Amino acid sequence: MKVETRTSADVLLTCRDVSVGYEDKAILSGVDLEIVRGEIVTLLGGSGCGKSTMLRAITGLQAPLAGHIELLGQDMYALDNEARRVLLRRTGMAFQQDALFGSLTIQENVGLPLRELTKLPEPVIREMIRIKLALVGLSGFEKRYPPTLSGGQRKRAALARASILDPEIIFCDEPSAGLDPIVAAGLDETLCQFRDVLGVTIVVVTHELDSIRTISDRAVMFGGGKIMAMGSVADLEASTDEAVYNFFHRVAAERPGRAGDGVDRLHHARTA
Ligand SMILES: Nc1ncnc2c1ncn2[C@@H]1O[C@H](COP(=O)(O)OP(=O)(O)OP(=O)(O)O)[C@@H](O)[C@H]1O
Ligand SMILES: [Mg+2]
Repeated sequence: MKVETRTSADVLLTCRDVSVGYEDKAILSGVDLEIVRGEIVTLLGGSGCGKSTMLRAITGLQAPLAGHIELLGQDMYALDNEARRVLLRRTGMAFQQDALFGSLTIQENVGLPLRELTKLPEPVIREMIRIKLALVGLSGFEKRYPPTLSGGQRKRAALARASILDPEIIFCDEPSAGLDPIVAAGLDETLCQFRDVLGVTIVVVTHELDSIRTISDRAVMFGGGKIMAMGSVADLEASTDEAVYNFFHRVAAERPGRAGDGVDRLHHARTA
């Protein structure tokens, strides 16, 4: 029987006693977290609890107030700017606002990191763009401009751009927010393909319960200025912690037909 052993090379991100916030005010403190190669980890929690702030810290955009963040084996904030840029090329980021340039076509947007950061010949760049657009289901959209795309298509284009340099880890902030359930499910499927086919590790901020259930290998819930719960979605849903339960119940209540599940389990857990 093969015994699975985890080595330090499998840990792509480590946060040790990290505080993040603005000026001197911590939004989250004492965050201890490890992300392992090949998993999809969802970051959950109410609006304003600090998910995007945490994501900015782990993607090198905002130094933590305290603690230690190691990305791909390197202490990101101890690196000089050039070394950090080189490190961050091995990652991809799809922001909460999709941040595509409206005046560039989809193929220009998706190819931007290749043109800025590599000296690959133009035919190779075009082929790489073609493959990534096909992977996210946007073949034929090469020459379109972002304002002419639907919200879901723009999210897909942002994902294609985040993945264009074949990153080891992709960070997405609310990829399915505001999308209808069918479009959101399609995006979830694409994220799972990135993990299953390309072996990409993915960290996703999301509020969507259907997505959380479909894509999470593990979930981390923030609240009250810290990590409130961490584990499989089944673990979190079975939690008797009221705030954790309320999160799942509140989100479930937004989707007809699912609210009863949460209420029944909460009732069951409280009366068991
Ligand atoms: N640039 C900033 N300066 C000061 N405070 C900020 C700044 N950006 C965000 N905040 C505050 O930090 C807190 C956390 O914000 P953050 O954007 O991380 O929340 P979030 O969990 O991503 O919320 P949402 O689910 O609504 O996107 C909020 O109270 C917010 O008002
Ligand atoms: Mg946010």
